[in-house]
Amino acid sequence: MTIYALIPILLVLIMIVAFSILWPLAIGAAYSPSSLRVVRKMLDMAEVDSEDLVYDLGSGDGRIVIEAARRYNAWGVGVEADPLRVLWSKVNILKLGLRQQVKIIWGNLFHQNLSHATVVILFLWGRTNEKLKYKLQDELEPGSRVVSYVWKFEGWNPIKIDERERIYLYIIGESDKPNGQ
Ligand SMILES: C[S@@+](CC[C@H](N)C(=O)[O-])C[C@H]1O[C@@H](n2cnc3c(N)ncnc32)[C@H](O)[C@@H]1O
Repeated sequence: MTIYALIPILLVLIMIVAFSILWPLAIGAAYSPSSLRVVRKMLDMAEVDSEDLVYDLGSGDGRIVIEAARRYNAWGVGVEADPLRVLWSKVNILKLGLRQQVKIIWGNLFHQNLSHATVVILFLWGRTNEKLKYKLQDELEPGSRVVSYVWKFEGWNPIKIDERERIYLYIIGESDKPNGQ
């Protein structure tokens, strides 16, 4: 085999990697993993338990939904646009024997139905959170918890705040009411 025969393979690999990086940037946010400390604080703040179905919108390597299942015995669904991270998280879930409890969906989080989630975790960008606000209000049941790392929702009142870590907990039906109602 000559070196030239490898060029098409290389080009395909470059295109897959470029797509994995650029598509999430265009539709939501870049990849940046939460530390395990922050993951646990987010799940603790939402008081996740075995009755919960935890969605991580933009799930990266799946660490949040994996931790929700392992430590809190909850159910988990991750939605991720980057196909390489989806593959990586699926392999991890298989290795950990969590296939019955945790699912990863490859796709755009804006196209997923969230109505079964009881907890939604977000580590995206501010403008992506703002776009997502009305979908969360429309699809989540009152009482569902939304935890956002780093970014606040404009006009919503957080029920709990961890100022140091910049973690904000919102409850649908309470946090999203106009002030004074
Ligand atoms: C800041 S990272 C957070 C990863 C993970 N949730 C964590 O906290 O470790 C944001 C993730 O969202 C993904 N993402 C961005 N926009 C998205 C979209 N519209 N649909 C699905 N995934 C998206 C990115 O690919 C990236 O993996």
